[in-house]
Amino acid sequence: MHHKENELPLFTEEKPIHKNEEQKGKTTEKLTRLDIDAKTREKILSYCRLKSGEIWEDPEGKHKVGVLDATNPADVQKLFGKEKSRLVINDPPYNVVVGNANTQNLSKINVNEYIGFSRKWVSNVLSILDDNAGLYIWLGADQNDGLQPLPEFIIMMREFNELRTRSFITMRNQRGYGTQKNWMSVRQELLYYIKGNPPFTVVYTDIPKILRGYYKKINGKITENFERSKSQFIRPGNVWVDIQQVFYRMEENVPGAYAQKPLKSIVRIVEASSQKNDLVSDFFSHSGVTLLASEQLERRCYTMELDPVFAELSIRRLEHYRKTSKTGWQWDNPFPEVPIK
Ligand SMILES: C[S@@+](CC[C@H](N)C(=O)[O-])C[C@H]1O[C@@H](n2cnc3c(N)ncnc32)[C@H](O)[C@@H]1O
Repeated sequence: MHHKENELPLFTEEKPIHKNEEQKGKTTEKLTRLDIDAKTREKILSYCRLKSGEIWEDPEGKHKVGVLDATNPADVQKLFGKEKSRLVINDPPYNVVVGNANTQNLSKINVNEYIGFSRKWVSNVLSILDDNAGLYIWLGADQNDGLQPLPEFIIMMREFNELRTRSFITMRNQRGYGTQKNWMSVRQELLYYIKGNPPFTVVYTDIPKILRGYYKKINGKITENFERSKSQFIRPGNVWVDIQQVFYRMEENVPGAYAQKPLKSIVRIVEASSQKNDLVSDFFSHSGVTLLASEQLERRCYTMELDPVFAELSIRRLEHYRKTSKTGWQWDNPFPEVPIK
């Protein structure tokens, strides 16, 4: 859950480049972190169409977004009814304080409490998982605090006998904290579990293969590496080095979101672990990235979010995409009703 860098409130400045001397050269978005800025939050709340417990149903009949609590079995039931999900991609709060912000959305609690919270949402995931399904979980390890909660979480997961570990992926975040006194923190962990025997489609990066030669005899014929391979590109494997962390210059940036995952990473998961029209879900929607990836790849998505502001952002992101084909707002304000001073 690396937060985006250089996030400064832009309600005082129309242009992305600050003109005054003090902030010269700093670029920023038109919306501050909504978990920290209480005043902006308050204004935006009145434009959020969902209240706690309510569910938005896609007029095109594909997706649902609910302001619901991932730890509450009744809430999860309300969103899914009798439907089961082929793929769940969850990015819960990590219990690691980011940017000195101990807010309601990004708070740090005792690790045992955190594991209790996690156990609840994982058991709710199991209640809606298809017999053959994948579960991906993004998680962090706090290098300043015994690397919690990653090891505790992995051990807790062994309680769920229906699930089998399948892979442990690390994504390289291309922007990290530029400390001079330690290794720069650029890793992001992604656990992959399966139930039953879900589909898996091999996917490729945009990085070309460089290995020529490597001759091998196949059915009596000498073949070269490229002739044998299914693609000219390399596979991502379980260390993803080719995905750019989201920041304000990218189209997919959602101003106000503080923990946005790159769309490319979610697209990769959805492509590999689900098929067209499958139900994909995400219990911690935030910027609506799983919803958007599902729309792009013709899957259906049921997603929930505790905070009505992020549920609204998720719905708006889908609507904005359908209207403009844009994946985000870059540094524009997704809430134009809230005037910029
Ligand atoms: C790390 S962010 C998810 C980021 C998301 N993957 C993205 O790329 O935009 C975690 C989100 O979970 C939400 N959240 C926290 N507790 C929750 C709960 N009990 N149920 C549902 N959502 C919750 C927070 O409001 C926050 O938006």
